[in-house]
Amino acid sequence: MSQIKIITVIGGGTMGNGIAHVFAMNGFEVNLVDTKQELLDRALNTIEKNLDRMVQKEKISDADKLKTLDNIHPSLNLGESVKKADLIIEAIPEIFKLKKQVLSDIDKHAGEHAVIASNTSSISITRLAAVTDHPERFIGMHFFNPVPVMKLVEVVNGLETASEVTKLIEDISRELGKVPVPVNDSPGFVSNRVLMPMINEAIFCVYEGVGSPEHIDEVMKLGMAHPMGPLRLADFIGLDICLDILNVLYDGFKDPKYRPCPLLVKMVDSGKLGDKTGIGFYNHE
Ligand code: CAA
Repeated sequence: MSQIKIITVIGGGTMGNGIAHVFAMNGFEVNLVDTKQELLDRALNTIEKNLDRMVQKEKISDADKLKTLDNIHPSLNLGESVKKADLIIEAIPEIFKLKKQVLSDIDKHAGEHAVIASNTSSISITRLAAVTDHPERFIGMHFFNPVPVMKLVEVVNGLETASEVTKLIEDISRELGKVPVPVNDSPGFVSNRVLMPMINEAIFCVYEGVGSPEHIDEVMKLGMAHPMGPLRLADFIGLDICLDILNVLYDGFKDPKYRPCPLLVKMVDSGKLGDKTGIGFYNHE
């Protein structure tokens, strides 16, 4: 199990392409799997753009960029790509039914030695592990956006995750230049249990007319040294994702303190999801 060389990332969206980027940049062979050629093309374009940015900032050389791109193998064939992998990282949308279907497919093809990790931001790792035949080899490997920049990997242990699997994921996170922090499975883990109530409270401040999004963000940036204010960050994460995570906290703890702000619900209903739709608390067009 200690020899992790080939990684298969399932899903080429924002998180999936970022995860493929950092593994490939650190010398791993990466299979990047998605369901349509255009999604793979978009993922590779994004990776190339982010690598160019790193070349411009002189963080990597042109040769490093080319080597990184060489290490990434896009694929539409989940079974073939999973079969070859030592570590499979699922980074598909946060819909339990969809994850269940894809994870059981991954489990069918994964080798006896392979570890399966989920990049889920809030769904229970124990519940996802139960979909597979080997919950002891299943773990949460939660990266943060933008993946090439953010140092944290929240390593989430399910009820049955083996301690050697936790150690392996911590070691490999360090090889990527990241800092692994182990936590146990609980709604929202640590990151989103702490972050989302802050974002929700900021949205309540807008809803109740306490301040404008600009002023609320200014308070948190200048007073608390946050790189982005909570409302700008909510747009960056996606308001639909924020709502999903708050609902996981609300349902998981049955505590009204996690009740999503009605304004957040309305914005998601109206399709104002933040950066990805061009409008949220800010206009990004
Ligand atoms: N790939 C590679 N490099 C990138 C990048 C990317 N996608 N995005 C930014 N960078 C680099 C830039 O090149 C720049 O490099 P230098 O320091 O060498 O100049 C550096 O990151 C800072 O970027 P910018 O100068 O463009 O802009 P900035 O200073 O405003 O920083 C930011 C942008 C890094 C996004 C910063 O605003 C930030 O840290 N914001 C908070 C992000 C955050 O909280 N993320 C977590 C979200 S929660 C989550 O992901 C998980 C969940 O479960 C919801």
